[in-house]
Amino acid sequence: SNVYAQTYVLNADSAIDVVSGKLISPVTVVVEDNKITSMGKSNRKAYPKGAEVIDLSGHTLLPGLYDMHVHLTSDAHVHGYKRLQRTAPRAAITGVRNAKRTLDAGFTSVRNLGAAGYADIALRDAIYDGDVPGPRVNAAGPSLGITGGHCDNNLLTHEHKVFSEGVADGPWAVRKKVRENIKYGANLIKFCATGGVLSKGTKVGAQQYSQEEMTAIVTEAHLRGLTVAAHAHGTDGIKSAIKAGVNSVEHVSFVDDEAIQLAKDKGTYFSMDIYNTEYILGEGEKAGILPESLDKERKVGATQRASFTKAVKAGVNMVFGSDAGVYPHGDNGKQFSRMVKFGMTELQALQAATINSATLLKQHTQLGSLEAGKLADIIAVKGNPLKDISVMENVTFVMKDGKIEKQ
Ligand code: ARG
Repeated sequence: SNVYAQTYVLNADSAIDVVSGKLISPVTVVVEDNKITSMGKSNRKAYPKGAEVIDLSGHTLLPGLYDMHVHLTSDAHVHGYKRLQRTAPRAAITGVRNAKRTLDAGFTSVRNLGAAGYADIALRDAIYDGDVPGPRVNAAGPSLGITGGHCDNNLLTHEHKVFSEGVADGPWAVRKKVRENIKYGANLIKFCATGGVLSKGTKVGAQQYSQEEMTAIVTEAHLRGLTVAAHAHGTDGIKSAIKAGVNSVEHVSFVDDEAIQLAKDKGTYFSMDIYNTEYILGEGEKAGILPESLDKERKVGATQRASFTKAVKAGVNMVFGSDAGVYPHGDNGKQFSRMVKFGMTELQALQAATINSATLLKQHTQLGSLEAGKLADIIAVKGNPLKDISVMENVTFVMKDGKIEKQ
């Protein structure tokens, strides 16, 4: 399905070099097939033959964005017990709609951090085959977790014998689960290191997997060439995950100075979903979020934002992760302004969603910045996000892999 043979010339007010932070203005970008072949100050005389010229005056060009924590197959209005009504095939179809919304919001790459029934793998492959539009999906399959933990399903009593597919206890059982996920197509691994907000009966601050189990998961995944993301709110779980060698810690709510230092020493990335709390506390009850989860959120949200400020100040590697799926897909970009409000410069927020994320996934030679030779994942926003980051909430033009997806 990957037929290109189209040449585009994009003329815009400016482009942001996310690596240096420099603005190139005015700018002309030439795209041939699925690659950027030239990029620089306008030279509007020497267009390649047969090129389609796209006028993006008034706009700033950026590399396609990454959201490093989404659940495309989950919906924001379906939480708690309502989720028991959703089969994996139903979730996959939901994912088709959400993939399009995500792409239209300018996110040309995502990490899908957990889905039942390998629905995220099916969605990734359908997008890749050109059956449906969507971002490049890096997919985890079922998240690994302990029995009764955040990545298990604890909504029903024991008579029902319900366990999530990713449940595995013990170092060899978790290694086997990693192997099983790889067998069915996962290209990264997600596990739950601590309790969480939205799971029933888990303590958000308490560690779940032991150090031994986390080390087993990461060792096995890295052996097979996959990166690992760990869900962790509590301090001990964050530290154990970093010591195990995870590539990123998700949420990172109750981080302390020691954990921040550990992350800096190891080069671990933090992926902190600091917009999420606004949706959960505002709309969560209507959506079916359990009262105990709303209670937990009241203890997590503000602390997580303070932790974000500390981590940014300390210079921890940061990526953009929203946990969209808890809140509506397509609203991913709302997190940018919160990242700036809680301590990042505009450029740092953009780097988190571009070059840093590409680097975490070892895709930085292909994606994550606008450069000749890289894949043509390009977006445009009106105005200049280095001056007003909220323009990232309205992406007007999206190109992925050299094809125009939104104009
Ligand atoms: N999936 C996460 C959990 O259930 C969401 C946490 C949202 N809250 C927050 N303040 N980021 O734990």
